[in-house]
Amino acid sequence: MTITRWMPVIAAVGAVALWARGEEPRASTRLVPLPAGDRAATAYRGSGSCSATACHGSINAQSENTHVLRNEHTTWLSDDAHSRAYQVLFDVRSQRIVRNLAGGAEGYKPAHEDARCLACHATPRPAELFARTAWLDSDGVGCESCHGPAGRWIGPHTTQDWQNAAWSEKEKLGMWNTEDLASRSKVCVGCHVGASPTSESAGRDVNHDLIAAGHPRLNFELSAFLANMPPHWVEKGKNGSRETRQAAPDFPVRAWAVGRLSQLEATLALTKERAQTTAGNPAVWPEFTEYGCFSCHHDLRDQAWRRRLDPGRKTAGAPAWNGRLLANDLERILSLDATPDLQGALASIRGLTGPLEALSPRQDVPGAGLGEVAGKLARAARQASQRPFNAAEVKRLIDLIEANRNDSSWDEAAARYLALVPLYQSWVALAPEAAAQQQQLNERLDALRESLGFPHALDSPSNFDPASAGATGHAPTTWLERQKAGLLASILDDARAPDRSPSVQNHSSAR
Ligand code: HEC
Ligand code: HEC
Ligand code: HEC
Ligand code: HEC
Repeated sequence: MTITRWMPVIAAVGAVALWARGEEPRASTRLVPLPAGDRAATAYRGSGSCSATACHGSINAQSENTHVLRNEHTTWLSDDAHSRAYQVLFDVRSQRIVRNLAGGAEGYKPAHEDARCLACHATPRPAELFARTAWLDSDGVGCESCHGPAGRWIGPHTTQDWQNAAWSEKEKLGMWNTEDLASRSKVCVGCHVGASPTSESAGRDVNHDLIAAGHPRLNFELSAFLANMPPHWVEKGKNGSRETRQAAPDFPVRAWAVGRLSQLEATLALTKERAQTTAGNPAVWPEFTEYGCFSCHHDLRDQAWRRRLDPGRKTAGAPAWNGRLLANDLERILSLDATPDLQGALASIRGLTGPLEALSPRQDVPGAGLGEVAGKLARAARQASQRPFNAAEVKRLIDLIEANRNDSSWDEAAARYLALVPLYQSWVALAPEAAAQQQQLNERLDALRESLGFPHALDSPSNFDPASAGATGHAPTTWLERQKAGLLASILDDARAPDRSPSVQNHSSAR
């Protein structure tokens, strides 16, 4: 699946000249609230109502006179993990998770009835609606999870005028703007990072309790996750081409930048939620998933790499806050477009690192300022989603990431890999004349990827050595193939074994 997805990008070498096409005005990243009144009755239609052959349930893609492929429901149902998200709640892994969470108590709810699981494994909706719209659960992560509740737009969206309508008009009826990368990313991170409860959706949190009970660790990077989702659409946007179905050459770098900004926003919101007691919701703090897993989970040996502290960390033994890695990427993105506003946001985020890594009591985690920082990040994500990236900028980001390499942890090296892959893809597409240098980067990525793998039958990177991460030389040629065959799987496929015990399981997508 990923092969077809990335072919256009690879083939787009040199095709840079298309960017002046007229675009609809991009709208806000706000998810439009459901109408008041009987929201349950009016809001959702379910994925079944999109599945007619003439609508989105065609067997084959039909995009002759439209960019809508018409087989979206078919793709989702047959190839997309999201359509199985509810089904997995019945399998042994899910049974084990809820059994472990119950800690030996009898009479707990099965996973497919547990609100903690349905929050992300079914269409997100306000907590009070779950019981009355239980019929929607069996869709798993259905169409309305990403496109918004269809009650008010399902009729209008089939009309001729709809295609040319501005997103702001569509959003008024509750359709979410998935075309704009910033608002698209906001939808994904709601489940792939997590979210606090709002009037529009129940709280979504994969915390250390869930992970220790057996839930896979959540790891997100927008460009990679888009590449790993079987596409049921034609990528559009700046420099892209509806006609030739080519995504823009700078699409991967843009997706990375937007994704990191919105991921940071979602991460901070979750930190705030976890650290602060709100009405009826006592804080659980410190929350261990805020930190690098291998800060705590490791074997003890002399000369361990964890003792080589990176410059910002003062004490051996303090866990590394995950926000650090996102902040590093924010700083890199700011090197292209810095505003005092965003420099201020970066300083605030860096300021959080100290108290968080000292495992301060929750009262010391500054919550109030985080809302303001979140607003700035959202604006920055919106700007990045509108912005073209040229070859020089992509190269600058690559150089920054490679120069500032600070291999103090596995997570840091993994974040570097996940950043360099989309940057590499865009560089290849934007600057064919640099093929030789690109090939060298490709080789470094290959080595880095190898060093990130977990030893056979282990759930942690116990052979990882930051000093040599990415430095070992070996046959370079197959990396791109593996990347196309599934980036996420390729990082960690060594770690996969049938029915693994609940464990420090990182992102894995081979299926
Ligand atoms: C914050 C959202 C969220 C919550 C809450 C959540 N999950 Fe998940 N779950 C995910 C995501 C996202 C994945 C896919 C992880 C990945 O591959 O990156 C996943 C994956 C899984 C998997 C592995 C599926 C596979 O195909 O490999 C199982 C099993 C699972 N979840 C069960 C549960 C259970 C049981 C609960 C409730 C106790 C739960 N989840 C709560 C988001 C969530
Ligand atoms: C996990 C999120 C997700 C789910 C679930 C999902 N979609 Fe999408 N869909 C997207 C994204 C992202 C796009 C790209 C939007 C764009 O480029 O305008 C998209 C695009 C589309 C488009 C093309 C829109 C256009 O104007 O080009 C259609 C039609 C569509 N989806 C229908 C569906 C249907 C029907 C379902 C359910 C069977 C569904 N989607 C489920 C994320 C999702
Ligand atoms: C601050 C320290 C700390 C951090 C950070 C941490 N854990 Fe844990 N974790 C623990 C402790 C303590 C236990 C309980 C150990 C035991 O039962 O032996 C535990 C238990 C677990 C277990 C169940 C026991 C096992 O070994 O299978 C899993 C799985 C797990 N953690 C995964 C993770 C993952 C994934 C992360 C990162 C997202 C993480 N942990 C971050 C301290 C931590
Ligand atoms: C409503 C929650 C929700 C939303 C919104 C959502 N996802 Fe997911 N996603 C999940 C869950 C749950 C799974 C795991 C399903 C399973 O394996 O059974 C998953 C799995 C995936 C996978 C497969 C991961 C793997 O390990 O194979 C990819 C790729 C993915 N999502 C990408 C996206 C992207 C891109 C978006 C935004 C356009 C998005 N998701 C939006 C909940 C969500």
